[in-house]
Amino acid sequence: MNTVENREAIVATSAQYVPLCPADALAPGEMSRFDPEGMDPIVLCNYQGDYYALEDECTHAIASMAEGEFVEDQLVCPVHGGRFCVTTGAATKLPCRQALKTWPISIVDGVVCLQID
Ligand code: FES
Repeated sequence: MNTVENREAIVATSAQYVPLCPADALAPGEMSRFDPEGMDPIVLCNYQGDYYALEDECTHAIASMAEGEFVEDQLVCPVHGGRFCVTTGAATKLPCRQALKTWPISIVDGVVCLQID
């Protein structure tokens, strides 16, 4: 996770930042779903104090991962129990085989932001 001290620093990069929530919004072990404008929903997870953003829809079928469980470093699908690694998005338990998409996170002026190209 990157921390950007001021907005002028990010203007110099080609990445776009999509603000999600204040940096202290989620405690370690908590997750929440967000619907950024123009994007599919994402689930934001605080794992051991660092934030990770993953696509919210399970790659196996139609399910919101934010309605499942967040156990250690795993997201557990509420429908069939498939699992994904929070830090990489990798599928770690069948029936899931395809990874969840992930995005880098930066903290900009105390706000958790998705970094998109
Ligand atoms: S819908 Fe997620 S494991 Fe089947």
